[in-house]
Amino acid sequence: MTALPYLDPTLPVAERVADLLGRMTAEEKVGQMLQLDARDDVVDHVLHKHVGSILHTSPERVLQAHDLTDQTRLGIPLLIGEDCIHGHSFFEGATIFPTQLGMAASWDPALVERMARATAVEVAATGIHWTFSPVLCIARDLRWGRIDETFGEDPHLIGELASAAVRGYQGDGLTDPTAILATAKHFAGYSETQGGRDASEADISRRKLRSWFLPPFERVAREGCRTFMLGYQTTDGVPITINDWLLTDVLRGEWGYTGTLITDWDNVGRMVWEQKVQPDHAHAAAAAVKAGNDMVMTTPQFFEGALEAIELGLLEEKELDEAVSHILTLKFELGLFEDRRRPAPERIADVLGSHQDLNLEVARRSLVLLQNSGVLPLPAAPDAKVAVVGPLADDAQTQLGDWAGNSGQAGWIPDGHPREMITTVLDGLRAHVPAGWEVTHARGAEILTLEEDPEGPFFPDGQPRPPVVVPAAPDADLVAEAVAAAADADYVVAVVGDRIELVGEGRSTATLDLIGGQVALLDALAATGKPLVVVLLASKPLVLPPSALGAEAILWVANPGMRGGQAIAELLLGEIEPSGRLPISFARHVGQQPTYYNQVRGQHGDRYADLTQSPAFAFGDGLSFTTIEYSALELDATELSASATVRGHVTLTNTGTRPALETVQVYVSDLVTSASWADRELKAFTQVEVAPGTSVTVPLELPASACTIVDARGERVVEPGAFELQVGPSSRGESLLRARFTIR
Ligand code: NOJ
Repeated sequence: MTALPYLDPTLPVAERVADLLGRMTAEEKVGQMLQLDARDDVVDHVLHKHVGSILHTSPERVLQAHDLTDQTRLGIPLLIGEDCIHGHSFFEGATIFPTQLGMAASWDPALVERMARATAVEVAATGIHWTFSPVLCIARDLRWGRIDETFGEDPHLIGELASAAVRGYQGDGLTDPTAILATAKHFAGYSETQGGRDASEADISRRKLRSWFLPPFERVAREGCRTFMLGYQTTDGVPITINDWLLTDVLRGEWGYTGTLITDWDNVGRMVWEQKVQPDHAHAAAAAVKAGNDMVMTTPQFFEGALEAIELGLLEEKELDEAVSHILTLKFELGLFEDRRRPAPERIADVLGSHQDLNLEVARRSLVLLQNSGVLPLPAAPDAKVAVVGPLADDAQTQLGDWAGNSGQAGWIPDGHPREMITTVLDGLRAHVPAGWEVTHARGAEILTLEEDPEGPFFPDGQPRPPVVVPAAPDADLVAEAVAAAADADYVVAVVGDRIELVGEGRSTATLDLIGGQVALLDALAATGKPLVVVLLASKPLVLPPSALGAEAILWVANPGMRGGQAIAELLLGEIEPSGRLPISFARHVGQQPTYYNQVRGQHGDRYADLTQSPAFAFGDGLSFTTIEYSALELDATELSASATVRGHVTLTNTGTRPALETVQVYVSDLVTSASWADRELKAFTQVEVAPGTSVTVPLELPASACTIVDARGERVVEPGAFELQVGPSSRGESLLRARFTIR
C-alpha cells in the first residue's frame, strides 16, 4: 500500500499539511489546537480530546502519550512543551543556570546564547520539543512577582539577550535534533501592571507599546522565533488573547510573522471566569479562534466550547484550518511524523547536568558589585576568620530561584534538585578560603512562615492559590548567635534576600523590604563594627535598610543557580573580577516605583518632598575591583544623514591594580522631540578588557537610523536635529561623557 501523502517525507511540508488537514474531522482539528496538562489524564487527552500538545510531563508520561497517539486514526504526533526557563527547570539533575535577570547582568548576548544552546541539548534529550522561554517583558514595577524572569528594564538590552536566547534554543534550525522551539513571551505589555499586581489590566497606549514594549518582540519575530505566547492581561479592556490590533494588524500584518501563537495558561477560560468578557466557553472559543490563536494552553473546555460554537454558528469549521496548519507545520518541520524525538536514556545520561562549567561562567558574570569600601577582595592573609551568616547562606533550593526544582509549578521533584549539585555561599567559602582561614556559620534570622489563603487553597480553575506569607519576627537567640560569630571573626558575610514564596506568578509583593528577621540581623551585625559584606541573594531589586547601605560591600547575586556559591566565593576572595552591571534599577523606597531609568521627561522637578527620586543603584551600575576612567569621547563626523553611521571612539584607562571587563554603555539623547520622550536610551554596548595601568581606545559605531522616537501618530521615525551621544559606565547622567551630532 502506498503511504498517504501526509506521511511521505519527500513531499513539501505545505502539501503534507494540506493533505492531513483534509482528512481531519472538526473534533480532531479542535483537539489539535489544545495543549493540556500531562499531570491530568493523558489517555483522555490523547484518545478523546485529540490534543495536539501536552506540557508538564515526565519522560515516562511522554512515552505513554506517544504510544497513545499510535492508536489514533491519523497518528498525529504530539508536541511536548515545558517551561525550561533557566536550564531544564524541572528535570531532576539538569543544569540550573542563574535566572534570566541574573544572566542579564552579564550584558553578554554570546554567553546567553551558549546557555540556551546548552539548555536545548539537555531538554531535547528528554523528549521535549518546545520551551516557553525567553521572557521579553520589560521590568517596570518592582513589586511584580515576575521581575526575576525578565532581562531587566531596557528594551535594547532585552532585544539583544532575547535574540541570543532564541538563536541558542533553535540551534541550526528545526531539523537539528538538539533544536527546541523558543517562545517569545508574554506578548505584550503584561509587565505594565497596576501596583505590581500580577496580570492586572495593563493601562498602556499603543504609542507606548510601540515605543518600548514591542521592539524586542518585533526583533525576534523578524528573526524567526517560532512561537509567541500571549499575555494574560487586558489592555484597553481587551484581553490580549483577542486583541486584533496586536495579533493581526501588528504581529501578523506589519511584522509578517508566520509562526505559531499559544495562549498563556487558560487565557481562553479566564475570559469567562476571571475577566468576565465572554458569557461562556463557546463564545470564548469562537473569539479566540477568530483572533488568530493557534494553540490554547490548558483550557480543557475549549474542546466542547469550540465544537458548540460551530454548532451554534458562532464559528465555521474552516476557521480552524489556519491554526491547525500552523501547528502541523511545526510538527512536520521538526520531523515528528518520522521520528517523535522520544526521550533518549543514553543521551539523557550523557548530557543532563553536564554544563556546569558554563553554568559557573554564567554565574561569575552575573554578580554585580554595588558598593565596596575596599574590603573586597578579602586580602590574602595567612589566617583570618570569616563569619558567614544569614538565612540564605546555606539555602540550596532558594539559590536556584523560581522555575526550578520545587519552586511550585511541577509537583514531581518535591525536594528540588540534588543538593550535591548545588554550591551554596557557605559551601563555596568553605571550599575556597586559603589554607589557614576559618569559616564559621550562624543562621541569624528566619524569613517567613506560610498560612493558607482564607479564600482556600485553589483558584476557580483548579490552579493552586499561593499561601499567605507571614513575615517571621526577629529571633533574639538567632541574632545573638550571629553577633557572637561576627564578634569572633575578621569579616562578616551576610547572605540575605527573598525566598520563593515571595517570587512568581500571583506572588507580587506590596513592599520591597528584606522581610522577617533580616533587617534586625543586619542592624545587629553592623553594630559589631566588624567589616560587613552583604550578599543580596534576591530574585529582584529590594530596598536595603541603612545598616546594609552602610556596609563595607554589597554584592547583588540574583538567584545565581547551582554554581552560584562558588562564583560568589571566588569573587569575595578575589579569584575573579566582578564584571556584572545592573540590568535594572534598585529603589531606595518602594514608594519610588517605578524607578526605571528611561522615563519620559517633563515632570516638575526630580524629587519627592520627602525623598529623592534617584534610585539607590541605577541601570548599568556595577563596580570592578579597579577604577576605569573614561576620556576623549570624539566623533569622526558631527553632521550626518539619516542613513549614515555615527562613528567615534572613547578612551578607557584602568587606574587601579586589577584587570577589568568593562561594559561601555552608549546612550542617545534626542535633544528636542516632536512628542515627549525619554532623556536617554541605551542604543549599544560593548565589553572591553582593560589591563591595570593601561589605556584602550574603544571604537564606537551606531547607525543614525537607530536614533528614533515614536511620534504622536505612533510611527517610529528619526527626527532631524541635534542629538547627544552619551558614553560611560552607567545610565547615571553624571557618569556619562557627551558629544553632540546633528542628523540632517
Ligand atoms: C503560566 C506562565 O505565565 C507562563 O509563563 C508559563 O509558560 C505557563 N504558565 C506554562 O507553565
